[in-house]
Amino acid sequence: MAKKIVVAIDGPAGAGKSTIARRLALKLGFLYIDTGAMYRAVALWALRAGVDLADIHRLEQLAHAADIRLSDGGRRVELNGEDVSAAIREPDMAQAASKVSAVAPVRRALVEKQRAMADTHSVVMEGRDIGSVVFPDAEVKIFLDASEEIRARRRLQDLAEKGYPAAVEEVAREIRERDQRDRGRAEAPLVQCPDAAYLDSSGLTIDQVEQAILKLIRDRTSNGKDFAR
Ligand code: DC
Repeated sequence: MAKKIVVAIDGPAGAGKSTIARRLALKLGFLYIDTGAMYRAVALWALRAGVDLADIHRLEQLAHAADIRLSDGGRRVELNGEDVSAAIREPDMAQAASKVSAVAPVRRALVEKQRAMADTHSVVMEGRDIGSVVFPDAEVKIFLDASEEIRARRRLQDLAEKGYPAAVEEVAREIRERDQRDRGRAEAPLVQCPDAAYLDSSGLTIDQVEQAILKLIRDRTSNGKDFAR
């Protein structure tokens, strides 16, 4: 049987992980898994249910009970049968997801679901702890980065496209605060694994980032021929 491959992409907000992970998955015929969407889904449920984001016990219950399905190349996210693809991208959801993701039992519940999703397929999985915690043995690990300014501009454009105009200073502050929380938390903080390739996308086009990652995949998977889709 062909071997299943995990391509793990970690990095801070706005580094371009989703765009590149989706493209790679499409090109390789792998499953694209946006783990940030899963933390966002749990945060959305918590906010709607009026759960305090400091209530660890209730958050753990929600994370376990959440039926999260990702489909349509990462565009569609379902929570308990409801399409929440747009709701989880509302501006406040990024901070809420970051807060919820600092809760250790929430992480354990979602990591379990993430591993199960890669049980039957080769995957491109992106997040903050994929190479460090979810799949420490991933064949390919990438730490995708970009300058603070570029990341803020990308997020600004992203928000504008979704109909949420904002000021660049405000977006930069939000990203900085979220990164500090994601890097500083006790449980599975965002770190660059020693065996991850560091890629700064600031001055690169998407095609250049794609080429660099495809080369890594070829180098690390005996020319990329022998993996399962
Ligand atoms: O990738 P994103 O911006 O949609 O993620 C939202 C938040 O979820 C992010 O600020 C931190 C958290 N997250 C995490 O802790 N671990 C992951 N693997 C993915 C996301």
